[in-house]
Amino acid sequence: MSETLPSQQPIGIFDSGVGGLSVLRAIRAELPHEDVLYFGDQAHIPYGSRGKDAVRDFSVGITRFLLNQGAKLIVVACNTASAAALHELRLMFPDISFVGMEPAVKPAAETTQSGKVGILATPTTFSGELYASVVERFARGVEIYTSSCPGLVEQIESGALETDATRAILEDALNPMLAAGVDTIVMGCTHYPFVIPLIQAITGPSVRTIDPAPAIARQTRRLLTGSDLLNGQSQLGELRFFTSAEPKNLSQLLLTLLGETGLVTGVRWEQGSIIPD
Ligand code: DGL
Repeated sequence: MSETLPSQQPIGIFDSGVGGLSVLRAIRAELPHEDVLYFGDQAHIPYGSRGKDAVRDFSVGITRFLLNQGAKLIVVACNTASAAALHELRLMFPDISFVGMEPAVKPAAETTQSGKVGILATPTTFSGELYASVVERFARGVEIYTSSCPGLVEQIESGALETDATRAILEDALNPMLAAGVDTIVMGCTHYPFVIPLIQAITGPSVRTIDPAPAIARQTRRLLTGSDLLNGQSQLGELRFFTSAEPKNLSQLLLTLLGETGLVTGVRWEQGSIIPD
């Protein structure tokens, strides 16, 4: 039997649910030959209103699971998990490269004309040190307006990208920002890029939305290249999905959100570890 080269191992990506698919979509465009293992912790969604310790424990359990499945690099495709756990994950797994999310305050601050920027993210992301640090480093002289869009993650998880209820949540978040003169809106939660068309319909074309996923995909490429882990296969990479909730629900959403599908396996949590069903 031939041995699998480290470069031929898959990339591991995780999120509380389907949000990380916005990151997978960009990774797919940037690195089409990579095999991918995607984990959605849908049994625990939403992470954004849970405490930091709980989200950190979930993130550690999922990382262990993905590494056991052969992942060569981990993308924490969740701002909330990055805020709660990225630092600890890097300490706990020093031989593994991690790519994490942080609210894209820097490109927003560099390009805003009005000097007013809106950020949409979860309460746990806003209360974390990572957010405080990007604002401190990059938002000098820029006024920041924030909203956690209560209920929006749940709408997106149910595939309701264009319903009246989703529009109402977004209008509540965006109207005060628009009234204040915001011209740039940062997607600080990986679920939110899926409602960018609706956001743009509300804001009009003069407001710019920033989805950090393409930059995350480029960073993933840089790290793989730097450690000689780029997959050299010529065929399109294989996608495999795991969910801690009902596999059928995730399967159904994949085509809508990602535009393609793959094998979806259900898993369950048992005492902090993930067990295949
Ligand atoms: N997708 C996650 C993020 O980027 C959060 C969703 C949740 O609250 O579970 O923050």
